[in-house]
Amino acid sequence: MNEVERILQLREELHRHNYNYYVLNAPEITDQEFDFLMRELQDLEEKHPECKDDNSPTMRVGSDLNKNFVQVAHKYSMLSLANTYSEAEVADFFNRVQKDLNEDFEICCEMKFDGTSISLIYEEGRLVRAVTRGDGTQGDDVTDNVKTIRSIPLVLRGEGYPREFEIRGEILMPWQVFEQLNEERERREEPLFANPRNAASGTLKLQNSSVVASRKLDAYLYYLLGEELPCGGHYENMMKAAQWGFKVSDIMRKCTSLQEVMDFIRYWDVERKNLPVATDGIVLKVNSLRQQKNLGSTAKSPRWAIAYKFQAERACTRLNKVTYQVGRTGAVTPVANLDPVQLAGTVVKRASLHNADIIEGLDLHIGDYVYVEKGGEIIPKIVGVDKEARFMIGDKVKFITHCPECGSPLMRYEGEAAHYCVNDAACPPQIKGKIEHYVSRKAMNIDGLGTETIDQFYQEGLIHTIADLYTLKAPDIARLERMGKKSAVNILEGVRASKNVPFERVLFALGIRFVGETTAKTLARAFRSIDALSKATLEELVGVDEIGAKIAQSILQYFSDERNVELIERLRNEGVQMEMEELDMEGYTDKLEGKSIVISGVFTHHSRDEYKELIEKNGGKNVGSISKKTSFILAGDNMGPSKLEKAQKLGIPIMNEDEFLALIE
Ligand code: IVH
Repeated sequence: MNEVERILQLREELHRHNYNYYVLNAPEITDQEFDFLMRELQDLEEKHPECKDDNSPTMRVGSDLNKNFVQVAHKYSMLSLANTYSEAEVADFFNRVQKDLNEDFEICCEMKFDGTSISLIYEEGRLVRAVTRGDGTQGDDVTDNVKTIRSIPLVLRGEGYPREFEIRGEILMPWQVFEQLNEERERREEPLFANPRNAASGTLKLQNSSVVASRKLDAYLYYLLGEELPCGGHYENMMKAAQWGFKVSDIMRKCTSLQEVMDFIRYWDVERKNLPVATDGIVLKVNSLRQQKNLGSTAKSPRWAIAYKFQAERACTRLNKVTYQVGRTGAVTPVANLDPVQLAGTVVKRASLHNADIIEGLDLHIGDYVYVEKGGEIIPKIVGVDKEARFMIGDKVKFITHCPECGSPLMRYEGEAAHYCVNDAACPPQIKGKIEHYVSRKAMNIDGLGTETIDQFYQEGLIHTIADLYTLKAPDIARLERMGKKSAVNILEGVRASKNVPFERVLFALGIRFVGETTAKTLARAFRSIDALSKATLEELVGVDEIGAKIAQSILQYFSDERNVELIERLRNEGVQMEMEELDMEGYTDKLEGKSIVISGVFTHHSRDEYKELIEKNGGKNVGSISKKTSFILAGDNMGPSKLEKAQKLGIPIMNEDEFLALIE
């Protein structure tokens, strides 16, 4: 692959990781891996100016814009920080500043807090607005949610604060709160947050601020902006802010030599483990505001600051054995069972080994000492083997050939990393997993049937397929251990109510491979009934927007299995919805077919969400950012200035609310 091809590949990869991180809140790689890829792309783009692309991942700092909040423009754009993992580059930074300023200077060292950034606006000593970073130029107005955070002052104390100013900082979920929250979520069988950062940003974006209040967020402030600040130094301004009632970290130190800076970094890399909140590095800032101004900023970050990021925490421990888990799709995941070891605040006993190729790549043997790291995920992973520590070689870890649960031979599909147990009709975890998925909240939402209950029902022979749920009888349930009349009535009521669940969710609940929530919706709207879907050809399936060959193949395969056809027949006879109701189809047209529409600004007749729905109902596609392919922009008041400029540059028409409503009328 040549360098230009690599640029294209990196862009595609980084766009995906960016989406996973900022939109889905579910990163697949660690921050460090992400930063390395980004750095590689930046370097290559510098070498190849002919490959410039306004939409390259290097041209933006990510966006956390959310549909349901009003968007507000930042008075001062929210830049990010240049970052590094190397001490040598910290020295480069220090020397560059020295050379550029050519006079004495102080560097303020402080913790880099790992939460979600916030901008707070104060007027006459009162908090008037809180805005997320968004895309750096405009963010979501989350004032109501932020007001629930106790450590943020609503009214300032003391005196000497400017009439109008902005203060920025990080909203955090303390470790202890985070662990409690996840324990609760586990009990309620809700998805867990991977780390306190995701928990904090997820919480801040909740629509219901009373739930936000119950989540006990915290905030540290670290940057004061305004026209009439009290002091000429960053550190001194922060000390003032502390007097006005802001929570300012007391881990801040002004240094005058590189040695002092390095000592601070090395000390806090260890000591930070005792802090109540997550940190991921040290931020170095030139202290004098005059000197900051002299040094200036690039489009993305100030030249007067840099973030040194800590290496991900890693532990070394012994591999005792490898066990295998079978999921609802039959995918088999190898799990390393380890000697318990302390890592980033929790005890780790198990780590994912992902698939056979990874095991092979590590050349893993039982008894090996392995390195474990926590990435963005909840389950830690094994990143290497300490071969020096091998004093006796144990058995080489060989991926199993047969299902550990039902004994059937495993299969590996072409182009896929995972092994599968194909005995989906009789392999217990697959059967139970399918039922768990069927009853889950976003599918049929049948209460009272957790993992343990389903396991119990299965052991007792009460259910083998999802259709058996509909023939359950109260006395059969009530006589089981830990069950009573009341739980029986509850479960049966949930089962009965599931007959009213709309077809699009039924389609998701069936658990067809690759048919997630959104795909199920798309398919339901395109085909309108299970009969039409089951008769669709490959061409018809891939003809639907967003449906690719992989999904289409999976659907064809699902309906080619006689057992699935029978299952659907049974569900239909029990009264489960197998087609869209006319009511669901009301208001659907193809007036916007083939149109890509960007929504921007604040509206009066409908909310943003309603407009999004209107676009989809009329066959259009709502997209997040403006490009050459955008058909038009549906603009309300206060459309962001950067969007406006871009639209004008590309000559994209702008339509107001009334024009839009007339168009689809
Ligand atoms: S100063 C222009 N100080 O790191 C400089 N940022 O990658 C403004 N962060 O967006 C930021 N701790 O969310 C600053 N002590 C600290 C910080 C900090 C965490 C975050 C912040 C910023 C990001 C930059």
